[in-house]
Amino acid sequence: MKDIDYRRNSASRPLSPELIKFIKESMKDSELSQPCVFVVFGASGDLAKKKIFPTLWWLFRDGLLPTNIKFVGYARSDLNMAKLRTLIEQNCKVRSSEVEKYELFLKRCVYLQGQYDADEGFENLNALIEGIEDENQKPANRLFYLALPPTVFEPVTSFLKKHCMDNKGNSWSRVIIEKPFGHDTESSAKLSEHLAGLFKEDQIYRIDHYLGKEMVQNLMVLRFGNSLTLGKWSRENVASVMISFKEDFGTQGRAGYFDQSGMIRDVMQNHLMQILTLVAMEKPCSLDAEDIRDEKVKVLKSIAPVSLEDAVLGQYIANPDSAHPEATTGYLDEKDVPKDSVTPTYALAVLHINNERWDGVPFFLRCGKGLNERKAEVRIQFREVPGDIFKKGELKRNELVIRVQPNEAIYMKMMTKAPGMDFGVAETELDLTYNDRYKGIRLPDAYERLFLEVINGSQINFVRTDELDCAWKIFTPLLKKTEGERIRPKQYLFGSRGPEEADQLMKKYGFVFTGTYKWTPPNKL
Ligand code: NDP
Ligand code: BG6
Repeated sequence: MKDIDYRRNSASRPLSPELIKFIKESMKDSELSQPCVFVVFGASGDLAKKKIFPTLWWLFRDGLLPTNIKFVGYARSDLNMAKLRTLIEQNCKVRSSEVEKYELFLKRCVYLQGQYDADEGFENLNALIEGIEDENQKPANRLFYLALPPTVFEPVTSFLKKHCMDNKGNSWSRVIIEKPFGHDTESSAKLSEHLAGLFKEDQIYRIDHYLGKEMVQNLMVLRFGNSLTLGKWSRENVASVMISFKEDFGTQGRAGYFDQSGMIRDVMQNHLMQILTLVAMEKPCSLDAEDIRDEKVKVLKSIAPVSLEDAVLGQYIANPDSAHPEATTGYLDEKDVPKDSVTPTYALAVLHINNERWDGVPFFLRCGKGLNERKAEVRIQFREVPGDIFKKGELKRNELVIRVQPNEAIYMKMMTKAPGMDFGVAETELDLTYNDRYKGIRLPDAYERLFLEVINGSQINFVRTDELDCAWKIFTPLLKKTEGERIRPKQYLFGSRGPEEADQLMKKYGFVFTGTYKWTPPNKL
């Protein structure tokens, strides 16, 4: 449960004045001075109360939102601002020095009850926005966040288009859509076609919050801002790439949603594939959103669909020896999960990129719930030193690890001379641990960054239609096969590293684990 607190409170401290100044300078003045209405559909839901409203409060507190912004929570539930406020407050710490500002934030929030599939609610919403425009005597920019189940994406976007678009000139309407963007290639194409019939691509912001994480964004600089990495980033030097996502908790009451989705759709097809494209793509011509997304699409097109032989799927079972409160219940015993569910809570897939840079280098994507630890990282394993002159077996492969979370870090596992008289070698690391190097600095939360990017009109960190289509094509055949044939996932104990078969498959593709490396954190030296 500690993890939830970590994420919940990650943005509870204000950003540093220097960072606030820097962010403000990167925002367009026109966006900050124009009135803006931020509408949250699904305002009564989990994401809205846990993440969206707290993030809006943190941005408001740090003075990073347009001066004349109003927030509208829209949902079917019989709520009002007092009730919504209680829900939000469970998830965002308001410090005593911030109470006054927080009340100002709440004064800017309105709750509107309405249906997702009828004109009336959207007519009311539009009237409310026009009222705000009249107060300001200026058109307002309109931002619609669909924190909703995918089943209502189509009606909501159709009604938005019919009733709620800006039409007075000098303003914009943008729509943020949460994953899952479809269920497979066909349903995703259908949704994309629907959206394309309503909005222009530059109005659609498909959010993948992993693209807002500091270390994921750092991949661009790490790769293209260092001649050291530029020269080493290819099949000649790299033996394998592993992209891991591990959670040490289960579905946390979301089993109903999760069972429809499974680990491949929930994390691999989106979060891990986005990281993969940034690790593997060629250098874009510029930092322009379209140049970057063009390169991402190119690399996705070079990846063959994953075969069953190149995948291991797992499902956790209860672990009576674990102290974790969720460990007493296996996945199949969870509420809302059918007893014979074949939904995987763990997945490993080996991807092959058929291009000049990566031919022959396996990319391991691994993700799972109910595992032994919580971490997300990229691990580049380099090839052995050719013509080894040291004592046999002493040299270990170099590894560059980009730790996305928790405790952001970049470390390079290297060999060094063991202090002493001879040429004995020792494993060590060049360590850039953020907490140590950037002491006391709070990094912006992923959602904070992404909301500001939408307001600023930047689509660099949002998913384009063709990217989505290519990513689905890689996984849809595997999903169809495993679900169509109801292939049983391998069982693994809650709190373990996942199914043994996953390590075996990685080994088969040349991943080397020596288990000899020991890291001593700087404060323990
Ligand atoms: P290791 O060589 O010890 O481990 C490499 C990875 O291999 C592990 O992360 C583990 O991940 C995986 N592994 C474990 N058992 C097996 C197995 N039987 N077969 C295949 N793979 C296996 O080095 P690390 O780079 O992970 O570093 C060790 C520790 O030091 C970590 O806790 C790391 O966070 C920490 N460290 C932190 C730094 C920092 O924060 N700045 C700097 C350097 C190190 P998995 O279980 O997920 O498969
Ligand atoms: C979401 C998944 O997209 O990402 C969740 O639906 C997962 O299942 C979450 O727990 C992880 O996000 P983070 O930022 O906590 O790593």
